[in-house]
Amino acid sequence: MEFSIKSGSPEKARYDCIAVGVFDSRKLSEPAQKLDKAAGGHLSGILRRGDMEGKTGTALLMHGTPGIAAERVLLVGLGQEAEFGEKTYRDAIAAAVKALKNTGSKDILITLSELPVARRNTAWMVRQGVMATHDVLYRADQLKSKKDDDKPSLEAIAFSVPGKDARSANAALTQGEAIAQGMNLTRHLGDLPANICTPTHLAKQAQKLAKEFKLKCEVLDRARMEKLGMGSLLSVAQGAHQPPRFIVLQYRGGKAKAKPVVLVGKGVTFDTGGISLKPGAEMDEMKYDMSGAASVLGAFQALAAMKLPLNVIGLIPATENMPGGSATRPGDIVTSMSGQTIEILNTDAEGRLILCDALTYAERFEPDCVVDVATLTGACVIALGAVATGLMANDDDLAAALLEAGQISGDRAWQLPLWDDYQEMLKSNFADIPNISGSRAAGTITGACFLARFTKKYRWAHLDIAGTAWRSGASKGSTGRPVPLLTHFLMKRAGKL
Ligand code: BES
Ligand code: MN
Ligand code: ZN
Repeated sequence: MEFSIKSGSPEKARYDCIAVGVFDSRKLSEPAQKLDKAAGGHLSGILRRGDMEGKTGTALLMHGTPGIAAERVLLVGLGQEAEFGEKTYRDAIAAAVKALKNTGSKDILITLSELPVARRNTAWMVRQGVMATHDVLYRADQLKSKKDDDKPSLEAIAFSVPGKDARSANAALTQGEAIAQGMNLTRHLGDLPANICTPTHLAKQAQKLAKEFKLKCEVLDRARMEKLGMGSLLSVAQGAHQPPRFIVLQYRGGKAKAKPVVLVGKGVTFDTGGISLKPGAEMDEMKYDMSGAASVLGAFQALAAMKLPLNVIGLIPATENMPGGSATRPGDIVTSMSGQTIEILNTDAEGRLILCDALTYAERFEPDCVVDVATLTGACVIALGAVATGLMANDDDLAAALLEAGQISGDRAWQLPLWDDYQEMLKSNFADIPNISGSRAAGTITGACFLARFTKKYRWAHLDIAGTAWRSGASKGSTGRPVPLLTHFLMKRAGKL
């Protein structure tokens, strides 16, 4: 899809179609009023006759409107004007693109980007418009021999903006496109099954990104991990036939001495639970257990495309979690790279076991801060559902920056406490720390508490994306979250927001 920015009179613009908004009930938005005036009241006439109420999710396509240069006008329902905001804006863009993607219109002008949304500027409207468009166009048919849908006939979308905002809107277009491409990469990897998306495949994807954007990429194999003393990570990998990989990506867009942000992504390419085997129902969804890793790759794709002036390191511990004759047994004790010993009471709490060694490895970069992203706990799905990512941190400023990035990108997180009281739940009779607490209480927090034992040397935040990285049910699939949150966090740090 080609995107562009347009300012000036919409009635004179030669497009196959112009999309304008209508509020419930039958109130033309401002750009629609302009068109209506040029069309001698043609649009208001249609509303009066009751053909379009303005309800959300509705759209009406009209041909040959008098006084308007464009061939068609699409009326898009916006719902109640008083309730119009971030979500209804995104939904309206999605409705417009859905209505037009397989019609005779090849190039369209969308005027919804001129509508006022509280606290948001034109750049926000454009970024979100591009992202919402890509969300509609995303298809999960990469492995179907017959594709779901032919290539959309819609080729180009222009967003109309006030003349004074044209510059920032163009910059936002580039940002939105970069973020959307990053999300698409994350979604494609998430949707791939575990027989294809192996640790080796993730490493190849990282190398491909590195080649495209001239990043440094190192892939450590099992022998290198053994030398580094990553006994915890390797204990998860030992039951699997697929070899584990530890991926190190480096983006150096900032000053040579500027301390990097380190992003760590859980890359469990399939989580059976190991010897603490999971129940069979919906186990296929555990192919998404590498979504943290995929979101780090997606964020790298976006930040490299945006050329952000920052230094960012990506660390991805990647392995399967399989049962088998050589798999870890409940009760086994392993030594992590940090030197701390871990009693593995449940082999299904494997995410923290691979992350802790990656978090120790992160120390060598003397990070400004570290953010890990992981489908860590089912408890997070119970607590926050599919709406918010769970956020826990050992630093309040870092937590606040991530929460804000989630707000502005529409990819929200919600903070849970990491008080010492919870640390008391992690006690082992035989090792320094157990990998689970004795009870199911506060499961998301105790998972983060485990990680906190390995992050004492830097500012750190943990994003539990178990509920937000993918959708279950009939429209199951990867969401591309939290790529918007991560990229907005980085953009803000780079002064580009
Ligand atoms: N990958 C799962 C977490 C998960 C579960 C994500 C369901 C999405 C949906 C993780 O490795 C896991 O199995 N966690 C256990 C931890 C428990 C054993 C303390 C869980 O949540 O049940
Ligand atoms: Mn597990
Ligand atoms: Zn897992």
